[in-house]
Amino acid sequence: NSKKSLAGKTVLITAGPTYEAIDPVRFIGNHSSGKMGYSLAEEAAKRGAKVILISGPSSLKTTNENIDIHRITSANEMYEKVFEFYRTSDIAIASAAVADYAPKVAATEKIKKNDDTLTIELVKNPDILKAMGEQKTHQILAGFALETNNEEENAKAKLEKKNLDLIILNSLRDEGAGFKNDTNKIKIFTRTEKLEFGLKSKEDVAKDILDCIENQILK
Ligand code: C5P
Repeated sequence: NSKKSLAGKTVLITAGPTYEAIDPVRFIGNHSSGKMGYSLAEEAAKRGAKVILISGPSSLKTTNENIDIHRITSANEMYEKVFEFYRTSDIAIASAAVADYAPKVAATEKIKKNDDTLTIELVKNPDILKAMGEQKTHQILAGFALETNNEEENAKAKLEKKNLDLIILNSLRDEGAGFKNDTNKIKIFTRTEKLEFGLKSKEDVAKDILDCIENQILK
């Protein structure tokens, strides 16, 4: 894309999993690779945007010098970092697989296997995207939904509930979609439209998502 269609825009992207500490050596995490978020970051940077990428633990690296990467570990750290940059962003895309719950306390020493059962109390993490929706002023805000049932209804409900401009649905039922794969198959819901796409590389999915966001800006 030589048109630099996002020149002058700041794009905030969350990516990857979060890790929630249980003790100094253990955590609760998930299988998110960060690939979708990093692909979005590269594509937005190619289109001329200044990109703020807030990434949970991921082995991926960025290649475009217009990407400022901020690495965090937990959901609370991601929350703090997001709101350092949200106010001055034009577009925000939440692609991170944020842990819904975290251990209430992280043990300061490694937990020993003394007892036959072990209970870890969990507390709810902040919903970062929901908070972005509540604090939205001028931003175009996009989120993801990974659903196993009633997917379209749930995605549309999330669009409303989190005050989003668009939501990207990837279904766990589709072979090759979501999470750990290099490919994804998505549907995008805006306030007025539903767009369906075929299975493609996450690089190409990133193009479809950013095209849709650019169309929202033009409205
Ligand atoms: O509600 P649910 O977790 O299904 O919403 C998914 C969307 O919300 C994703 O875009 C994800 O990045 C974002 N999210 C978030 N903070 C959370 C949970 C989800 O930003 N604590």
